[in-house]
Amino acid sequence: MRNTTENEELKYYKSVALLSIICILANQENLFNNYQAINQRFHIMAAINLTVNGKKQTLNIDPNTPMLWVLRDHLNLVGAKYGCGIAACGACTVHLNGTAVRSCQLPVSAAAGSKITTIEGLSEKGDHPVQKAWIEHDVSQCGYCQAGQIMSAAALLKTTPKPTDEQIDNAMNGNICRCGTYLRIHAAIKTASKS
Ligand code: FES
Ligand code: FES
Repeated sequence: MRNTTENEELKYYKSVALLSIICILANQENLFNNYQAINQRFHIMAAINLTVNGKKQTLNIDPNTPMLWVLRDHLNLVGAKYGCGIAACGACTVHLNGTAVRSCQLPVSAAAGSKITTIEGLSEKGDHPVQKAWIEHDVSQCGYCQAGQIMSAAALLKTTPKPTDEQIDNAMNGNICRCGTYLRIHAAIKTASKS
């Protein structure tokens, strides 16, 4: 039984090594996908280092795990929400080294060594200018999309402190709100840009 397991493992490592070499040589996407498929089939775990909200973390985890589930299930940071799972709604938005990203489509391996900021770590007391403007404009309704909206808005203001209306619309375009709070989101970003 043990020999069978060892043979399986040996077979796997040989496959990975062979495919890795072929992928590098041929640089073909379909071969790379085969490599990923093998990883998924065997549920390979890896030690991955991250800094999340300023705290260093080492996780022993399947490298393909989406960051959203790392945050929610492994680190108990549940501010980022699952909406679509295909990078189309923005509910899961967090910052990767300061840039807004969709955590549902970010494999944890792609963030190794990086700094992740979630809504929980955006400010110490919930007093980031965007958060204050959100309260001032009473933006939230059901609240489900709001962490993602705020993280996108905060990333925008970091790179573009005085955005035009068009820049706000473009930056926030991928964040969907079923409650239709778009006008108040826009107004809050304007207010935050003046602070
Ligand atoms: S859940 Fe990630 S973009 Fe919708
Ligand atoms: S506040 Fe309800 S989905 Fe945006």
